[in-house]
Amino acid sequence: MSTQTMKEGTTSSATITCDGTSVTLPVVRGSEGETGIVIEQLRAKTGMITLDPGFGNSGACRSAITFIDGEKGILRYRGYPIEELAEKSSFLEVSWLLLFGELPTRAQLDGFTAEITRHTLLHENLRRFFDALPTDAHPMPVCAAAVAALATFYQDPETDQTQHDAVIRLLAKMPTLAAYSYKHSTGQPFIYPKNRLDYSSNFLNMMFATPAEDYAVDPVLARAVELLLILHADHEQNCSTSTVRVVGSSRANLFASVSAGISALWGPLHGGANQQVIEMLEHIEAEGGDAQKFVDRAKDKKDNSRLMGFGHRVYKNYDPRAAILKKSCNEVLAKLGIRSRKLEIAMQLEGIALKDDYFISHKLYPNVDFYSGIIYQALGVPVNMFTVMFAIGRMPGWIAQWLEMRKDPETRIARPRQIYTGATNRAYLPIEKRG
Ligand code: SDX
Repeated sequence: MSTQTMKEGTTSSATITCDGTSVTLPVVRGSEGETGIVIEQLRAKTGMITLDPGFGNSGACRSAITFIDGEKGILRYRGYPIEELAEKSSFLEVSWLLLFGELPTRAQLDGFTAEITRHTLLHENLRRFFDALPTDAHPMPVCAAAVAALATFYQDPETDQTQHDAVIRLLAKMPTLAAYSYKHSTGQPFIYPKNRLDYSSNFLNMMFATPAEDYAVDPVLARAVELLLILHADHEQNCSTSTVRVVGSSRANLFASVSAGISALWGPLHGGANQQVIEMLEHIEAEGGDAQKFVDRAKDKKDNSRLMGFGHRVYKNYDPRAAILKKSCNEVLAKLGIRSRKLEIAMQLEGIALKDDYFISHKLYPNVDFYSGIIYQALGVPVNMFTVMFAIGRMPGWIAQWLEMRKDPETRIARPRQIYTGATNRAYLPIEKRG
């Protein structure tokens, strides 16, 4: 195959030759210099398709929302480095940025915040929905089901206004749904949202206040929640975001699409990894805290242990979010006067792994999930709620990507092909003649 790429923003071409047949396909180049061969006409011109299990080499779309350079450990939302947004922005400001492409003016942010504040309540029927579920249910399927159920309360035909309303409702109600899923599991009464509290403080209050006792929101914890939500807000075409896009490409509504994304995020290889990391650290601690022994097991092909929170499909360098969270771990724990043995073990694991040939050769570095759980625990969030925290953070990203997909003139219903490997044509055999 030969290809020439030209300066940014223009296209060139690639020629693929197979069995004496050649086809020339356009090459597109993104604003950060990424190039891709456009294979839309491949099958029409050659009868062939490409095969790329896990889509590690396949672009599903053009997107202007988030840029990741995995080799350099770069993450930017709409061009703004994650390090700056983490330090200087707020979750609702980042949400506006992801949704609308620019940082909001003061008036825009105030209006957006006011709209979201006014939509944090759930319909009382939906509040009763939780009563039907077992108290020991994992909160992720509870949230996935509750988000899907939102579609039963807001059934207006899709217009720009109803779509905007759905965006506001999802951002506003996700913390309420999350807190309710936690309260349901504890048997405690639900705590209603309070409009006088900011987004993260309101979530903490709904989680930890009770009718018998007010909850004093510690500003250190509220800021830690903001940071965690900002860091999780979007991450280009990851598994759950791709799920949201695929479901939305069938013209399913935003609630249904996001509900599917929540289910995809629950997987232990994706957002469920933050829960797995803490369980891994607890396991290592219970076995005496020998980090080296666990690293050796994670390398052993005969042992299916993995160093959870390590490795990434895109990052082949340190996940910038992990670096920020590692620093925040130390700050939050110090401010709260908490000594975390799990943090000590995590840092030992990192120190060993980053010097280990296996991890170096496989380019395995800490990812966003490696340190996040330690902060969640410091916040008092139970382990099975960690991935729900991820879902609250990822909500603006899922929505922004869904909206971009819906507005993209190139969008078609997602329907991949396959290479069939099953039985070839054969006649039906009556049961009495079978072996
Ligand atoms: C998230 O995509 C995103 O952007 C996701 C995310 C987001 O913000 O949306 O960043 C959030 O999901 C982060 C990832 C959280 N998952 C984990 O921490 C689980 C542990 N990590 C992995 O299982 C793995 O690294 C993945 C799932 C993250 C990536 O999987 P890939 O790209 O399919 O890589 P792979 O499983 O094919 O592994 C390649 C090699 C294998 O070894 P070989 O067979 O080639 O010898 O690396 C090894 C794997 O065995 N490997 C690990 C490892 N991760 C990969 N070995 C030990 N420990 C690990 N953690």
